[in-house]
Amino acid sequence: MSPHSPIRPQILALQQNGIGAVSSLAFGEPDVIALWFGETDVVTPPFIREAAKKALDDGRTFYSGPRGLASLRYALGDYYGRIIGRKIDVERISLPGAATLAVVTALQCVVQTGDNVVIVSPIWPSIFQAVEMVGGIPRFVRLEENWQASPPRWDLNLQKLFDACDERTKAIFVASPGNPTGWVMTREDQQAVLDFARQRGIAIIADEVYGTLVYDGSEHAPSFLEIADEDDDVFAIGGFSKAWAMTGWRMGWVVHPKKLDQQMSVMCIANNTGPTSFAQFGGLAALTPEGDAFRKDLIELCRKGRDTVTDFIGAQNRIRWMKPEGAFYGFLQIDGMKDSLRFASDLVREARVGVAPGSAFAPPDDAASDTYIRICFGQDRARLEMGLQRLGEAAARM
Ligand SMILES: Cc1ncc(COP(=O)(O)O)c(C=O)c1O
Repeated sequence: MSPHSPIRPQILALQQNGIGAVSSLAFGEPDVIALWFGETDVVTPPFIREAAKKALDDGRTFYSGPRGLASLRYALGDYYGRIIGRKIDVERISLPGAATLAVVTALQCVVQTGDNVVIVSPIWPSIFQAVEMVGGIPRFVRLEENWQASPPRWDLNLQKLFDACDERTKAIFVASPGNPTGWVMTREDQQAVLDFARQRGIAIIADEVYGTLVYDGSEHAPSFLEIADEDDDVFAIGGFSKAWAMTGWRMGWVVHPKKLDQQMSVMCIANNTGPTSFAQFGGLAALTPEGDAFRKDLIELCRKGRDTVTDFIGAQNRIRWMKPEGAFYGFLQIDGMKDSLRFASDLVREARVGVAPGSAFAPPDDAASDTYIRICFGQDRARLEMGLQRLGEAAARM
């Protein structure tokens, strides 16, 4: 073995995140009620599966275009027209693979080694791990608990966000609706961040993969695409995984500045040469009125899950939450619990319910996030109730 390893220190420093650490304790064991991952227990609907099957039978097994099928990119442009009232030009839409790869591609556009990305947290760990992977330094600005508000909510402190930015800040990363918090960024806050970013020459990476999963009856949470110009340095990430129950398909997209039209082709070729050909026909089916109807049904399932958690919390004296405005997660604070990784590990071993530890969504010095666990409530009612019952009983004794 050479004493001078060429492996980058940033890569050597990567560590398995807490969701992986807990789920590896009992992954796939049938008696475990798994609420730890970011997916519902709903199978992709038949009309989407059939479309992909037909594409396979039709021999759609070749490269499809580096940034995805042109028809799919046009369909996405129209989809934005329907849901945010602003059609997006096809030159701005690229599907490198899944939304995860879309995030990495956006980061590759702006981050050089040693630059920092200011991230609104708590946040899905793959985001800050992706920043580290490309050589960047994540800087966290934590949403603040506002338990006094009625109902309690997460607040973004804009001043803290702006103060965290310096001359090496290349991007502000915001996921709204947020994972794990379910926080939804207001239009006013978006406008203030956009004004600041324009003035300072900082990109915005807006992760909107849960954009349509909102509970106030609107089509979409406020989107940066509604206020940004086509050549602002704004990257909006979207995906099929969450809203259409397609997590295993690995398909997502990035809406990027128009000026990156050509460069995105090159990047998408180098990263993956687009998503799987036949899977994209499933994506096309998802963007039809039938797909819209399915999305709405899934939101209703999640709304019921959210109601179930609300009732559960009402009967607990150790557990509270900020009721989520979007996405499908409950980020539950457990009074007196200070080590969420240990709690989640004990919980799966002893009570056979799988949750994600709050510490996974924050840097090590964020003790407040360590008092939380995350569950995904987009589940079959009976399974969810059983999981919550096990959680409640365990919380009473652990
Ligand atoms: C905030 C956020 N962005 C992106 C993703 C990844 O989506 P995809 O399955 O399309 O890679 C997730 C998945 O959990 C997520 O929570």
